[in-house]
Amino acid sequence: MIETVSVPLEGREYDVRIGQGLLARAGAEIAPLLKRPRVAIVSDENVAALHLSALEQGLEAAGISHVSMTLPAGESTKSWPHFERTVEWLLEQKVERNDIVIAFGGGVIGDLVGFAASVLRRGVRFVQIPTSLLAQVDSSVGGKTGINAPQGKNLIGAFHQPSLVLADIDVLGTLIERDYLAGYGEVVKYGLLGDADFFDWLEQNAKRAAGGDIDARIHAVRRSVEMKAEIVLRDETEQGDRALLNLGHTFCHALEAATGYSDRLLHGEGVAIGCALAFELSARLGLCSQEDPSRVRAHLQDMGMKRNLSDIPGDLPGAEALLDLMGQDKKVLDGKLRFILARGIGQAFVTSDVPADAVLSVLRDG
Ligand code: GLY
Repeated sequence: MIETVSVPLEGREYDVRIGQGLLARAGAEIAPLLKRPRVAIVSDENVAALHLSALEQGLEAAGISHVSMTLPAGESTKSWPHFERTVEWLLEQKVERNDIVIAFGGGVIGDLVGFAASVLRRGVRFVQIPTSLLAQVDSSVGGKTGINAPQGKNLIGAFHQPSLVLADIDVLGTLIERDYLAGYGEVVKYGLLGDADFFDWLEQNAKRAAGGDIDARIHAVRRSVEMKAEIVLRDETEQGDRALLNLGHTFCHALEAATGYSDRLLHGEGVAIGCALAFELSARLGLCSQEDPSRVRAHLQDMGMKRNLSDIPGDLPGAEALLDLMGQDKKVLDGKLRFILARGIGQAFVTSDVPADAVLSVLRDG
């Protein structure tokens, strides 16, 4: 069964297709978008080794020819040198204004290739085929593209919506558990930020999904994408509500910086810890009951995930230094830290009105 979530942005409508066998169907799904039967695929070494031939066969089945390049796997690929290499390769392949570029990989590939597509010949269309859980539920949808700068993550980029997203649930079967669970950090975020019923469902079913149950995986991805699409429709360029998607991220970005963007802490793991800290902060500010952060932590523990600062291996800087790192986050507006806090599970809101002392106390105890 293949499910469809539509993102009806005026003039740039697209579908997110979610289900099994989408690599094999990729040619049939993409063909209606093409002016000529040829695509350029950009992937990473890990994804290409596992899945590129399946995608190529899927394209060939619909008579679509293809060229492909692979980049090194990992966050350091989201940088100027790899961006330059990608854009130049696409030009060498004579990708034209009406052609389609395929971003085939996790969040790094989706962000970098989407950004390359946004500037190539002043903008060509691209299709996202996300292969990590994180990319399927978050980064492939909504049009944020970009690369990292020495000054911080995702500081260079553009809003450029994909023309189609193909989230093949089968591909998740090749993820190692740690990567799956890191992606799950973004799934749980959706329940926490706006859908208490979904969080209830996750408490009951997320372990089944993590264990490989396809129906549970499809439901988790579909509900996450629906929520993301609703928020992006309300606020595509993050003037307001889209910031809700950053629940847990202000803490997370400071923790990622403090751990040197290394595999001591994966992004989704930082999001999960950040969500627990955001609920703790909300409870200490009297916005929600103390039961809420306890429930968040209990669920993360049940899933075998990191939930406290002390779960991060190695030393961390002190609370003041972490607060300082939060100040570097691009969510700073007029010099004030923007936090996503919550009045309860599923009731997040954006605020700049957070006393530094309260944040410090959470970081000291977290
Ligand atoms: N990942 C957050 C957003 O797309 O806005």
